[in-house]
Amino acid sequence: MSRKILVLDTTLRDGEQVPGAKLNLYEKLELAHQLKALNVDIIEAGFPASSQGDFNAVKEIVASIGKDRTITALARAVKNDIDAVYQSIKYAKNPLIHIVLGTSSVHVEKKFNRSKDEVLEMGVSAVKYAKTLLPDVQYSTEDASRSDFEYLWKTIEAVVKAGATMINIPDTVGYAVPEEFGELVKKINYRLKNMNDKVILSVHCHNDTGLATANTLIAIKNGADKIECTINGLGERAGNAALEEVVMGLKLRAEYYNAYTNIVTKEICKASRLVSNLTGLDIQVNKAITGDNAFAHSSGIHQDGLLKSRDVYEVISPEDVGVENMEIILTARSGHHAFKSAAEKIGCKFKDDESFEYLFNKFLELADVKKEVYDHDIYYLIEKYSNEKAL
Ligand code: KIV
Ligand code: ZN
Repeated sequence: MSRKILVLDTTLRDGEQVPGAKLNLYEKLELAHQLKALNVDIIEAGFPASSQGDFNAVKEIVASIGKDRTITALARAVKNDIDAVYQSIKYAKNPLIHIVLGTSSVHVEKKFNRSKDEVLEMGVSAVKYAKTLLPDVQYSTEDASRSDFEYLWKTIEAVVKAGATMINIPDTVGYAVPEEFGELVKKINYRLKNMNDKVILSVHCHNDTGLATANTLIAIKNGADKIECTINGLGERAGNAALEEVVMGLKLRAEYYNAYTNIVTKEICKASRLVSNLTGLDIQVNKAITGDNAFAHSSGIHQDGLLKSRDVYEVISPEDVGVENMEIILTARSGHHAFKSAAEKIGCKFKDDESFEYLFNKFLELADVKKEVYDHDIYYLIEKYSNEKAL
């Protein structure tokens, strides 16, 4: 039976950590509403202990959409942070406290300068405290992919016993490679399900070597029940797994993964444009799913194939992610078929094959000196040459 994968969007927390991406309260609310329209299962609304502004924003998001969505916010494994999260999300219908604490040796020794047992105890105490406030607690074993497996498991086992209801495995610095990350998730999933099959296993992947989407998808294949991602892959450094890529990758190969999400994919492009407009951060033109060129075709061979049948070169239909239509870009590589289709679309009728061939050659001459040929260029060609070769 196909498994439902929960989607947590952290654009408002990890995404907002990007330099220059800071949003004001109204922008955060607008984005939260779009995340609701996308139907993400959980919205990570912020890091309330980081500033009064963030605390207020999380509270406002809860007041605005907290009855419809699970809302979470981040806390380090300390009482003050957990209190700030609790105070900001407590009126949501399903509030979830998210605690993060490192498990790798670099975190334990260099960041905390404590022993492994002391750090483990900090995590357990934090979960126990959070559980006195709310029933749902997610525990993130920060830098999990660089952690010693037995210590990582010891931590997971202890925090689950203390009451954690979700275990999140972050590839915090984008260190993991898909095969290895898949094995890690499989091993944890196996032990976790034997211990407490109600605990939700989650992953959170960063994109330092461009593998965040691949690592997230392989985690799903290996048993992860929940994924964390951001719109446009916004996030620390090279960013997080992009929601649009993971969701559409999963949808495209649903049988392979035997899993699905409840994301309303038609809202994807709107969400992507909104995040770009609000943050002022452009979307790379060739970005998968939401880049300007994601559904644009410029080579003649491809254009010819597409005009015969779209599935020749299109595995995702643009309409499915809220893009009006595929785009045929006329360039010097375009062939007869694409040019004819574009010219006819704007009302040009060719007298005979010879006149078509004549105009096609004029089009190629223009395309050789211009990057792209637009409708107005075709009008120009028609005007200029129609007297020479009656069209
Ligand atoms: O990258 C990370 O480890 C995080 C945690 C808070 C999940 O963002
Ligand atoms: Zn992160």
